[in-house]
Order: sequence, then C-alpha cells, then structure tokens
Amino acid sequence: MSHKLGRNSFGDPAHAGNLMTIEEANVLLNEWVPNEKLRLHMKQVAAVMKAWAIEKENANDQTVLKWELAGLLHDADWEKYPDDHCRIIIEELEKRNIDPDVIHCIASHGPNYFGVEPNNTMDKMIYAFDELSGFIHAAALIRPTRYEGLEVKSVLKRLKSPAFAAQVSREDINDAISRINISLEEIIQFIIDHQKDVN
Ligand SMILES: [Fe+2]
Repeated sequence: MSHKLGRNSFGDPAHAGNLMTIEEANVLLNEWVPNEKLRLHMKQVAAVMKAWAIEKENANDQTVLKWELAGLLHDADWEKYPDDHCRIIIEELEKRNIDPDVIHCIASHGPNYFGVEPNNTMDKMIYAFDELSGFIHAAALIRPTRYEGLEVKSVLKRLKSPAFAAQVSREDINDAISRINISLEEIIQFIIDHQKDVN
C-alpha cells in the first residue's frame, strides 16, 4: 500500500494567512477521531510544536498558530481513512482554503511514506517530533510515576532496544534528526517538558 501523495504543491498561495481557530480544529478532531489515544497524540505534538515556535523560533502569533494547527491535525484522517492517510485531511484543508504552509507541513510529516520532502523549519520539526512524541509517551506510560523523573538517557536507552515500541521507526527518527541542527537529546528533553501535562 503506497501512501505517496504524488504531488508537491498543496493549497493555494492566495490563501496564505487563512487559518482556523484551535476550537475549530478540535471540532474537526472530535468528529474525525473517536480514538482518545490518537487525539491525545495529536494534542501532544501540537503542544510541542507550539512551544517550539514560541521559545525557539520567536514566532509571531499567526506563525505559532500555524505550527500548532499542523501538529493538531497531522493524523486527523488516520483512524477513519487508514488507506488514504494524509490525503484526506490535506484535501479537507484545501477545501477549507487553509494556508498552504499548514497543509505542506502535514503533507511532509512522513517523507518516507508520503513522498513529500520537509522544506522549512516547521516541516522539519513536525517530522522530528512526531515519532519521538509517541515513543516518549509510550516510555512514560510504563513507569509508575509516568513523566515525573523521566530522563533523556532512559529514553535513549529504550530507543536502542528494538523490542520496545517496535512500531516506532528508529530510521525515521534518525533521518528527521539528521535534517536539523539540534541534538536528539535536546529534542527529547523538549518533548518531555512540553507534552507531559497535555491531556
Ligand atoms: Fe503522528
């Protein structure tokens, strides 16, 4: 089954700056994603994306919202349309005339699956955060104290153990990290700090 999107251009440049509110995005999520765990995953990635835009990119409010929306919606079609994952949410956002940056970011969150290369920092960061966020959450859930006291080194150790959260692609994580000038350790710490209180 190929998830390749077969194109590299998404949305209409004329719609730059056209976003939706977080409330509107949550309405879409609640309709499209009955699975609470999957919704939590998207909320966690959204929180991490938002925090990175604010803290590391000094982004303005509109740009912060773009990062957050991309995180919040990137897997919105996964549960209902697993065979067409990514294509359906992209087409929905195009129908809603959403900013092309947000749509491209979602389209490039898994270059090895969707065949779309991450271009800008927002694209590269969602790729880096996505798999790691889920992996770190899995690592937290098996601890009695969950996120409390979860250390980067223990996440690194679990990454080296192929049996743990085996569905998480270590190859994708390494590929994503190789595209940015930030260490794996820093990304892991950032994710722990910013997704631990999301629920
Ligand atoms: Fe994801």
